[in-house]
This record gives sequence, C-alpha cells and structure tokens, in this order.
Amino acid sequence: MISRTSSQATANSAGPSKGWRAPPNGRRCARCFPTSAACESSISVAASAGSAAGLLNTGAKEVLGLDLSEKMLARARAAGPDAGIVYERADLDELSLPPTAFDLAYSSLALHYVSDAARLFQTVHRCLVPGGHFVFSTEHPIYMAPTHPGWSVDAEGRKTWPVDRYLVEGPRKTDWLAKGVVKHHRTIGTTLNTLIRCGFTIEHVEEFRPTDAQIAAKPELAEELDRPMFLLVSARR
Ligand SMILES: C[S@@+](CC[C@H](N)C(=O)[O-])C[C@H]1O[C@@H](n2cnc3c(N)ncnc32)[C@H](O)[C@@H]1O
Repeated sequence: MISRTSSQATANSAGPSKGWRAPPNGRRCARCFPTSAACESSISVAASAGSAAGLLNTGAKEVLGLDLSEKMLARARAAGPDAGIVYERADLDELSLPPTAFDLAYSSLALHYVSDAARLFQTVHRCLVPGGHFVFSTEHPIYMAPTHPGWSVDAEGRKTWPVDRYLVEGPRKTDWLAKGVVKHHRTIGTTLNTLIRCGFTIEHVEEFRPTDAQIAAKPELAEELDRPMFLLVSARR
C-alpha cells in the first residue's frame, strides 16, 4: 500500500483558506477546483511535474505524486526541487491507499487509461477525509468513442467528428504517441453514476470549451467548439 511519507501535516490539518483559483493545469480545470477549502494534503494520481507541483503551488503543503511510468516520474523529479512532493510508482488499476489520509485527490488526463474506474473511485473515496475533494480530467467520451477518431471534411470544407460506438464501452486502441495505446471508453453517464455509487457527491461537471479570448490567442482551439476533448469533474466525499 502507498503510504503518506511526510509527517508534517495531518490528514485533517486545519489552516487558513488557501483558495484554489489558480489550479494546476490552468484552462483545463479552473472551475473544477474548490474555491474555499484548505487542501493541505494532496495526492496527484498520474502525475507529471506540472500536475503535482501545481498542487503545491496552489496551497498543498505535501503532495504524493503517483504514476505508472518511471520515465515520467524521473522527469517530474528532475523538474524539482519541490520539498513538499514525494513521487512514487503506482498502477492506478491496482492502487491501494491509506484511509482518510488526503484532503484532495487530483488526476489529470489519466482516467481513460484505467480499466476499472469503479475500483479506482472506491480507492480514492476511501483515502479522502470526509468532505475531501476529488477533481479529475479525462478525455471526453465523444473524443474517445469512435473506431477511427479523426475529422471528416466534406466537399465544402466543413469539418465534422464522426462518432460511432458511443454506447459500446470498453477498450479503444489508438496510435497516439506510441503504437497500440489502449484507452478505456466510458459514457458520461457511466462515469458520473460510478462516482455516485462509490459515495461521491458531484459538485461540478464541465466539457471544456475555450473562451473567445483563448481562441483569439490560439486559433487552433476553435475546433474544440465542434468536438469536446476534455471532461472535467469535481466531486466531494
Ligand atoms: C496524458 S499523461 C498526463 C500526465 C499528467 N497527469 C498531466 O496532466 O500532465 C497520462 C499519464 O498517465 C499515466 N498512466 C497511464 N496509465 C496509468 C496507470 N495504469 N497507472 C498510473 N499511471 C498511468 C502515464 O504514465 C502518463 O504519465
């Protein structure tokens, strides 16, 4: 079982409200983070340097950063030094965590690699203090569902994102970054109902939409208006 390695903070440590208005992965999570909670002890499941350090920067005093990839962990450690972060290797499909040990669990863009979301949600629920927060982003199921994800362009140049097999949940093999990467497609209903069944109260759900200002600064973001790429959820134990 993964343990909390720092003894500095206690799981229920009280403290001034830190506010979470400057979230780790900026535009992807802004409205999903609690705005008035003191989340001093946090866990980042599937942690790049950015996502774990981001938690530290926004108020956490100690962060446990977990990832399956030694390479990713080495890069995150090398990007330090961050006194409050401990990185450990862990497989989210086999994760075991101490009970009521963390105020906040955060996962950025890793849930779609997990085959058993119910098991992970139960593990996260158990590791949080009562009232603790679980915030995660995942690839949007409209983005993931198709057999061949990609834009279709008609004779007039109009782009569409053909979706098939939306209600056929399960593995999808893609060639993104590496060949034959397996992701696990779940509908929005399944993800939210699984959270509810595991005892979470859902507080905010967002399908990422870039603002007009973001599109003006980065025009390629405009295609996000036709096909959502990220689903963001904030839930509470
Ligand atoms: C798209 S990256 C996101 C990294 C980081 N969270 C971020 O947002 O920058 C997905 C991460 O999930 C990790 N991952 C994939 N499957 C995993 C598993 N079963 N257990 C733990 N981590 C996993 C990968 O190693 C990778 O670091």
